[in-house]
Amino acid sequence: MPTRILSIFGTRPEAIKMAPLVKQLAVNPEVVSVVCVTGQHQQMLDQVLDLFGIAPDYNLALMTGNQTLNGLASRLIASLDDVLASVNPDRVLVHGDTTTASAAALAAFHRRIPVGHVEAGLRTGNLMQPWPEEMNRRVVDVMSDLMFAPTPSSKANLVQENLHGRVVVTGNTVIDALNLSTARLDSDPVLRAEIDARLPSVDAREPMLLVTGHRRESFGPGFANICAALADLATTNAVQIVYPVHLNPNVRGPVQESLGKLRNIHLVEPQDYLSFVRLMQRASIILTDSGGVQEEAPALGKPVLVMRDVTERPEAVAAGTVRLVGTQRESIVQAVMGLIGNAQERDDFAHRINPYGDGHASQRIVAALTGCPFEEFAGARASEEQRVQPTVDAQ
Ligand code: UD1
Ligand code: UDP
Repeated sequence: MPTRILSIFGTRPEAIKMAPLVKQLAVNPEVVSVVCVTGQHQQMLDQVLDLFGIAPDYNLALMTGNQTLNGLASRLIASLDDVLASVNPDRVLVHGDTTTASAAALAAFHRRIPVGHVEAGLRTGNLMQPWPEEMNRRVVDVMSDLMFAPTPSSKANLVQENLHGRVVVTGNTVIDALNLSTARLDSDPVLRAEIDARLPSVDAREPMLLVTGHRRESFGPGFANICAALADLATTNAVQIVYPVHLNPNVRGPVQESLGKLRNIHLVEPQDYLSFVRLMQRASIILTDSGGVQEEAPALGKPVLVMRDVTERPEAVAAGTVRLVGTQRESIVQAVMGLIGNAQERDDFAHRINPYGDGHASQRIVAALTGCPFEEFAGARASEEQRVQPTVDAQ
């Protein structure tokens, strides 16, 4: 009898990281794959589903404008219970640290359905940073009987917590998604040219700073500092800034108000994943608070400055590809200007290795789910597939 697996996700990063896995589950004869999207994100989720050609079996369309965590969580649990009753899966898969992930795991647990956690074991050790994600990822791991840790150090976190589930190290599926995307870009010059034509036109001779930011713990003073730092950087004329602005109104409001009219800053809509990968390829430096970008940029050889005080991705800090710069105006400006003034240092990033994956994470997860033998991902020990990907035709 094939195993009935219900994958539940609802935000942009979850969709990017679940897409390669969902594709592999769909063609595995030992699995009946059912996909439920919660629609925690509406437009940003659709961008990913369209790109990867995923047609969900259930779309709960739960997003409301400026949703509260409790409002969202309660809608999620109520709606997911109906889906669980009608699908009656042998297993539920959830991803990462979102409200969708924690609510879906709890709903499945209440029905005694085993939970598999993709991207398990990431920890900052600080329950308030990132908030509420550190809590979400912890409670999902407590409820999971199968935990797919992306790296050996995320496995070590789980082992230390003495949880009841089994842990396997798989690599991060984001590298699978990234590889699929760069392969498409590299093999199709027409597509590349089309995407380039849609992106803001920046002078290829000047360094380009790519920015993203959306963390709830930075709302208010944190975002005010970040915007002030970007305004300072724009006035130096030493860098051109491209900033795809997250749709959260708490981000969009202050960003548009303080940066909307500044020279050298291009505020753009959230980009579909392929276009964003292209932007990362073309960037000189990436300034972000995103988790996923901290994993992708090292694979592309790009320096990442992280606007947070702590990270659950210490592997990239150890590999020297990620630096924490906090959310203070001066420290952000100093870190960016330091790198702009040092082309040699920027080039060094292109020769480091990516500790997050070799592009086979989804295969390992499917093998673990179907009881097939596989070799766990070894982490920062460089295999050829972890070397930085050279960028085709970057400008
Ligand atoms: C959520 C996750 C966070 C994840 C992030 C990825 C939680 C608590 N937070 O934060 O862990 O890193 O997604 O981006 O689960 N909106 C739209 N359209 C969209 C998406 C969002 O309009 O496609 C707006 C809506 O007004 C929505 C708001 O953004 O209410 C906030 O969305 P929400 O999912 O609650 O929070 P994020 O900040 O995106
Ligand atoms: N991303 C994207 N378009 C954008 C900005 C980001 O496709 O305009 C991708 C990015 O490559 C990464 C993911 O979205 O894979 C990160 O999402 P986000 O920063 O919202 O969430 P986090 O990774 O912090 O959970």
